[in-house]
Amino acid sequence: MRTQVGIIGAGPAGLLLSHLLHLRGISSVVLERRSRAYVEQRVRAGVLEQGTVDTLVAAGVGARLLREGMPHGGVEIRYGGAAHRLDFADLLPGRRVTVYGQQEIVKDLIAARLAAGGDLRFEVEDVAVHGLEDRPYLTFGGRRLDCEVIAGCDGFHGVSRPSIPAGVLTVFERDYPFAWLGVLAEVAPSAEELVYGLSERGFALHSMRTPALSRFYLQVAAGDRIEDWPDERVWKELRLRLETVPGFTLRTGPVIEKIVTSLRSFVAEPMQYGRLYLAGDAAHIVPPTGAKGLNLAVADVRVLTEALARFFGTGSAELLDGYSAACLERVWRAQHFSWWMTTLTHELDTDGAYERRLRRAELDYVTSSRAGATVLAENYVG
Ligand code: FAD
Ligand code: DHB
Repeated sequence: MRTQVGIIGAGPAGLLLSHLLHLRGISSVVLERRSRAYVEQRVRAGVLEQGTVDTLVAAGVGARLLREGMPHGGVEIRYGGAAHRLDFADLLPGRRVTVYGQQEIVKDLIAARLAAGGDLRFEVEDVAVHGLEDRPYLTFGGRRLDCEVIAGCDGFHGVSRPSIPAGVLTVFERDYPFAWLGVLAEVAPSAEELVYGLSERGFALHSMRTPALSRFYLQVAAGDRIEDWPDERVWKELRLRLETVPGFTLRTGPVIEKIVTSLRSFVAEPMQYGRLYLAGDAAHIVPPTGAKGLNLAVADVRVLTEALARFFGTGSAELLDGYSAACLERVWRAQHFSWWMTTLTHELDTDGAYERRLRRAELDYVTSSRAGATVLAENYVG
C-alpha cells in the first residue's frame, strides 16, 4: 500500500489534516487505534477560537458548527463573593469564542472524509514508524504503508514522538499537583456564559454543550479516582464553589459522563524529525484552563497543510523545514497563557496567606483594569 501522507491518529489533528490535504489533492491514510464509536463519543474540549471556527467553515465542515455551536461574547470570573464579566465584544470588537464539543468536530470530519472516499482505518493494532530519514513507512497489523511523509497526530501517549531517536528532542515540562474532574450532565446550563469559579475550596468551571447539556470541571486532588466522586459529592462541591454570588442557583440533573484528567504542560522541540512531523498533543500539552489544546492542534495542522501543499506541488521542502519554527511561537504563547490561567485560578496545598493575597491582587487587576482584562481576553479568544 502507498499514500503520500501517512497519518497516525484520528483525533481532531489527524482528521482535519487528512481533510485539508484532500482539498489540496494530496492523498492520505489515517490509522487509528480506537474504534470509530470511541473517538466520536470521547468528551473533551469545547471552546473554539474564531480562527478554529473559520478554518472548519472554510474547509466545508462547519455547517453543523454554525447551526448548533454557541457563540460566547464573554466569560465570567467569580471570586470573593462577586461576579466579574470580561466582555470580549467591548474589549476586542468582532472577536469571540464558540462552544461546540470536540467530539462533534470529530464526527463532522469523519463524515466528510468518508463521503469523499477517504481511507480511515479504525481499531488498527501495533502501528510502528520506520525509515524516517529517507524512505518512511508505517507498519500495522502485519501490513505495510509506504508514504512520502508521516504525520504524528496520535496525541500525548502515541507512538510517533517516542519513535524519534534519543537526543534529537528537547523536552520542556511541568506537572501540576492537582487534577480535573470533568462532568457532563443532562441539565440546562445555569448561566448563559462560562463561569470560572475560584474559592478556597478550589477551582470550578461551569460550561455547556447544548441548551440541554451542561459541562463542569472541578479541581480535585492528583490521584483522585472517579469512584471518589459519586454524583452527590460532585453536586455538593459544585454548589459550594459556584453558588458564591447572590442570585445564582446551580441546576442539577443526571450525570452522564465523568472523567479525571491530570494537568500537564509539555513541549517537545523540534516538532519534526526527518520525514516525520508532529501535530497537536503529540508535540505539546497545555493544562485545560486556558482552553487552548484543541485550538493549537488546529493551528499546527493549518501550518503543516500549507507546507505539504508546497512540497507536493513544487518539490520545495522550504516550508516543511520551517514547520516546527513556524508553530512554536504560538505554542509558547499558549503555554504561557495556560500556565498563567492555571496558577491564577487554582488553590495549591502549599499556598500560604501571602500567595493567596498575590493571586487576589492579580485577579483584581485582570477584572478591574481594561489593560489587564484585555490581556486575558486577547489570549482567550486567540
Ligand atoms: P487526540 O485528540 O489525543 O487524538 C490522538 C488520536 O490518536 C486518538 O484518537 C488516539 O486514540 C490515537 N492514537 C494514540 N496512539 C495511537 C497509536 N499508537 N496508533 C494509532 N492511533 C493512536 N482544548 C481546547 O482547545 N479547548 C478546551 O476547552 C479543552 N478542554 C479540554 C478538556 C479536557 C477534559 C481534556 C482532556 C482536554 C481538553 N482540551 C481542550 C485539549 C484537547 O482535547 C486536546 O488538545 C485535543 O484532543 C488534541 O487533539 P489531537 O488530535 O492532537 O490529539
Ligand atoms: C471547557 C474546557 C476548558 O478547558 C475550558 O477552559 C473551558 C471550557 C469545556 O470543555 O467546555
